[in-house]
Amino acid sequence: KRKIIIDTDPGQDDAVAILLALGSPEEIEVLGITAVAGNVPLSLTESNARRVCELAGRPDVKVFAGCDRPMGRPLVTAEHVHGETGLNGPVLPDPTMPLQEQHGVDFIIDTLRAEASGTVTLCPLGPLTNIATAFEKAPDIVEKVQEIVLMGGAYFEVGNITPAAEFNIYVDPQAADIVFKSGAPIVVMPLDVTHKALVTPARNDAFRNIGNRVGIAVAEMTDFFERFDKEKYGSDGAPLHDPCVTAYLIKPELFKGRHINVEIETQSELTMGMTVADWWGVTDRPANATFMGDVDSDGFFALIAERIARL
Ligand code: BDR
Ligand code: CA
Repeated sequence: KRKIIIDTDPGQDDAVAILLALGSPEEIEVLGITAVAGNVPLSLTESNARRVCELAGRPDVKVFAGCDRPMGRPLVTAEHVHGETGLNGPVLPDPTMPLQEQHGVDFIIDTLRAEASGTVTLCPLGPLTNIATAFEKAPDIVEKVQEIVLMGGAYFEVGNITPAAEFNIYVDPQAADIVFKSGAPIVVMPLDVTHKALVTPARNDAFRNIGNRVGIAVAEMTDFFERFDKEKYGSDGAPLHDPCVTAYLIKPELFKGRHINVEIETQSELTMGMTVADWWGVTDRPANATFMGDVDSDGFFALIAERIARL
């Protein structure tokens, strides 16, 4: 069973990733959720994280607010994708469970120091600001991380916020650079994978037809979320980006990729936040990440539906 910290900017797809984790207590123990500014400002991402825990019937989960802006650049948000609240679609009540007092970065540091080395996995689903800030503040924790499994980046599919960059990496390229250079074992779920995990109408119906409150809320979230990709890319539904991270923890065999070198562009405005992935091994730069390229999408959606039915 994996102990994890989910670092997130909910976001409809972040919400589904959290629900998948909370619906899988045999494989995953959620030590805490740290919110970060990303899709929408921090005040919304932290309250959305609590809304999602309450939707799952888990007001006991510890939710922390982390960094409210990227390390060295102004915050770029994505209301054009996620709506003004970040979680447009279902009507979810204001959360009543508490926000923890501790800063999310300090929770990450204290948890990695307190737990046995190599037993805590970090699951970033948004900009990497909290993780990089923790690594800068407490470099001793880096070698204690079991694995970082993150959603971010793109290689063949290139960008969704600029022609060159994926949103999470673009928002805080400096943080991404710190994390990719940290030496911690990294698994990356880039757009190359998530654009193969589309919520088709049939898959959306399958969520709705689960019939529980969570299944209906998830269907309402993806209903809203898909309008952006449908209009923009003409695709058959929204890519469910972030749940690839938590699905990997439960069924890694759903994904295929390569262990390669990945560097982050932090200088050029034109290609800022690009994940320069040496997929073909044309340099001798050492591998620092397992960069996924493919997913068994039917297996992925079946897993999500199965676990959401348990909530
Ligand atoms: C990523 O950006 C956010 O909008 C989504 O939640 C996901 O984490 C996709 O590029
Ligand atoms: Ca996200």
